[in-house]
Amino acid sequence: MRKTQVSINLTALRHNLQIVRQAAPGCRIMAAIKADGYGHGLVRVAKALNESDGFGVACIDEALQLRAAGVSAPITLLEGFFHADEIPLIEQHRLDLLLHHESQIAVLEQAYIDTSIRVWLKIDTGMHRLGVSPERTPALWKRLESIPGLLPVGQMTHLACADDREHPATAKQLRVFAQATAALPGERAIANSAGILGWPDTHGDWVRPGIMLYGVSPFIGGTAAQHDLKPVMTLSSELIAVNIVQKGETVGYGGTWSCPETMPVGVVAVGYGDGYPRHAGNGTPVLVNGQCVPLIGRVSMDMVCVDLRSQPEAGIGDPVVLWGEGLPVEEVAEAAGTIAYELFCSVTRRVRLVEYE
Ligand SMILES: Cc1ncc(COP(=O)(O)O)c(C=O)c1O
Repeated sequence: MRKTQVSINLTALRHNLQIVRQAAPGCRIMAAIKADGYGHGLVRVAKALNESDGFGVACIDEALQLRAAGVSAPITLLEGFFHADEIPLIEQHRLDLLLHHESQIAVLEQAYIDTSIRVWLKIDTGMHRLGVSPERTPALWKRLESIPGLLPVGQMTHLACADDREHPATAKQLRVFAQATAALPGERAIANSAGILGWPDTHGDWVRPGIMLYGVSPFIGGTAAQHDLKPVMTLSSELIAVNIVQKGETVGYGGTWSCPETMPVGVVAVGYGDGYPRHAGNGTPVLVNGQCVPLIGRVSMDMVCVDLRSQPEAGIGDPVVLWGEGLPVEEVAEAAGTIAYELFCSVTRRVRLVEYE
């Protein structure tokens, strides 16, 4: 059987939740588990994080999967509803809404809400993606308060540049948020992982950690170890061939890498068909027998090649880690010109998954 697999360490996931608690004491935690728990498995992650105070997902389909699996904690739809026909299901399954646009408020004004729906108002404080304008916030909050059946909980915003500790945008977003909400009641929710770890002024009543829960530093150039975060996902495989390739010969599609000397080249059973990034270039770190070796040549669908000059005795069946335990995913993401979020979400269904405590 092909040995390529992802292992999900549930103890590490829970440990990382404790790091959130320590970093933002007294705050309630809405764990961001959208996009299939950042690729770690939606229900699996929710069940392991049952000590969080609620969950944030991107859409109703994700919320319904959680409810069907018996998850009874508060679930917030971070983009609200997309269409009015979701409202009965939102009521039926006690889902909370984030409202980011006046048109959503207009729909709720026309809807008949039987029970009560908890809603957050999202304010655009500078990211310019989703959110109502700071100037319109007090008037829109009033409209929410007057809709029968709605229970306005508080105000939210999202930070655009908190991953850069020097960036002036975060302080500006905080000022805009404070101004827009100064006269309003309710709870405040601002911080993502970078806010939690780097910007205490963003903590508010609720924090919304995502990437740090999965054991990744949210900061540019940062490492998980700096925050005592532990990797949750490990992508691993094995060597399926070791060949001696002659000096001057090239390796892989397009012949993009030439052997500077006659040397052992290892072939690993992982490729972009598994979600390993095709843009990982020569030199991307790979662990073989726990030691770092460089990737060489192009990533193909089912295989990658590695330079085994530092491990001439390595052989078929030897263990390989592509990221995770022993090899920070941040390093692989950097070498591939992407971010850990994307690597996690890219792992494909053909990769066998094992979870462990
Ligand atoms: C609204 C919202 N809050 C929180 C998060 C969590 O962000 P991070 O994974 O950077 O902690 C996200 C993720 O993008 C989000 O969209």
